[in-house]
Amino acid sequence: MTRLSKSSIRLKGDAMVKMKDMPKYHEATAEVDVSEFRKIIQNRRSVRSFDGTPVPEKVMHECLDWALLAPNSSNLQPWEFVWVRSADKKKQLADVCLGQSAATTATEMVVCIARIDLWHQISKDILAHYEKLPVAVPKSATDYYKKIVPYVYGQDFLGILGLAKTIVSSIVGLNRPVPREPFSRSALITWATKTCALACENFMLGMTAHGFDTCAMEGFDSKRLKKLLGLNRGAIPVMVISCGKRTDGGVYGPRLRMPRERFVREI
Ligand SMILES: Cc1cc2nc3c(=O)[nH]c(=O)nc-3n(C[C@H](O)[C@H](O)[C@H](O)COP(=O)(O)O)c2cc1C
Repeated sequence: MTRLSKSSIRLKGDAMVKMKDMPKYHEATAEVDVSEFRKIIQNRRSVRSFDGTPVPEKVMHECLDWALLAPNSSNLQPWEFVWVRSADKKKQLADVCLGQSAATTATEMVVCIARIDLWHQISKDILAHYEKLPVAVPKSATDYYKKIVPYVYGQDFLGILGLAKTIVSSIVGLNRPVPREPFSRSALITWATKTCALACENFMLGMTAHGFDTCAMEGFDSKRLKKLLGLNRGAIPVMVISCGKRTDGGVYGPRLRMPRERFVREI
């Protein structure tokens, strides 16, 4: 049961400050040719017509693995990726995607799902992992998963807990910064969707790096999609990604973006 208290809110800050307690860890980084990355970014376009070239299984698996390496909130990994492989299910999925050509011509399709119902188990799994480590994990880190995570992400059916947390945050937040989300089901959906979308981008850039194309689609009937995949209430489809090789004309036109000044601010 989640306890509401000022100290549990304060702990979030404490957990961050105590990062200095973490044992020093060094990870080697590989050298990157930035021009290759630039090409990947430029080459990725939304493709609406695929030519049927098979995407090797190895490529699909690697891109799915890359998706799972995306940064994610509190490392709680609130996502799921369903690679729809059976011909029958693919056809049904294309229908659910409103019969759009990016879906009907796709060689492979992956349904990307935000999971708001996994954080509790993952949190426990992280703590279990910490216990098995040969070095002691600082208390602030274990406290994060034992106390902060249940406090911030815990919800009750009627949303009363969320309301109480909102009130506590509003009062405590008068004097200092406090976490204010996600204290409702919809905020939790936003929370998991953010993380899931980052993984989607990893997946799509990975496909581009392998010389394949993708189209992210949110044009689908979410109710039918949930039924097709047998998803529960805690699983929220974020996008379907179709994959394959573009036909000539599979990209509808030159990339269009509004001027950068409209979106990028420096303060
Ligand atoms: C979340 C999301 C949903 C999208 N849904 C669709 C879709 O249902 N159908 C489609 O043809 N394109 C869809 N797109 C592709 C966008 O239309 C496309 O990314 C945008 O026009 C920019 O073009 P570009 O990706 O080639 O740069 C979607 C993209 C995103 C990120």
